[in-house]
Amino acid sequence: MTYKACLFDLDGVLVDTAIYHFQAWKNLGTKFGYALTEEQNEQLKGVSRVESLNRILAWANYSATEEEKSTWLIEKNENYLDLISNMNPSEILPGVLDFLHQIKQAGYKIALGSASKNAEIILSKTGLIEWFDLIIDGNKVTKSKPDPEVFLKGASGLGFLPTECIVFEDAQAGVEAAKAGNMHAIGIGDAEMLRQADKVIPNFVGIQASELLQF
Ligand code: BG6
Ligand code: MG
Repeated sequence: MTYKACLFDLDGVLVDTAIYHFQAWKNLGTKFGYALTEEQNEQLKGVSRVESLNRILAWANYSATEEEKSTWLIEKNENYLDLISNMNPSEILPGVLDFLHQIKQAGYKIALGSASKNAEIILSKTGLIEWFDLIIDGNKVTKSKPDPEVFLKGASGLGFLPTECIVFEDAQAGVEAAKAGNMHAIGIGDAEMLRQADKVIPNFVGIQASELLQF
């Protein structure tokens, strides 16, 4: 199989924004007296903003009004934007730039497939934006991962079949989305957590793209 494109998730794959999401959700939790744990934050990876709030409210056993929910979604995001305001290229995860160099040189197209509505801001702040031929983010999809929409739009936007694309994902929901879209899925992180992936690597450090992607 000759692959033609690499589709990357953003948070947890190219940069580590989970710490900022965690901080912002924890801050929000004080409004309804709830202390979010790190373990719970793990379960929010790859999950959209609205769905994350719904899960937190369920854990807190708090039934919020629609008005509270929309206010809190705005507040959480304002806080998050504040927390990421100083992000810079030093926050690109180790090995990522080298890997992007390798695949670009090998002629692969590169797209983003992220649930985040803040993806472009983060890509700009870190300088990663210049690597991308196409950006599909939370503003361009109606269904969140594990629905494959974000990756299917990436593949078709680049003009390739799903089977010609490789997805890089750190979240279970993201790996599921890639597989549901009929794509090759490479998990980033813990193999136990990402069982559905075709292959799992801990991170991009020292990864030879030609070996991993077999070109
Ligand atoms: C995903 C993150 O990439 O984006 C989630 O893993 C986050 O934690 C989701 O909730 C939505 O992000 P944003 O920036 O639109 O709130
Ligand atoms: Mg992720």
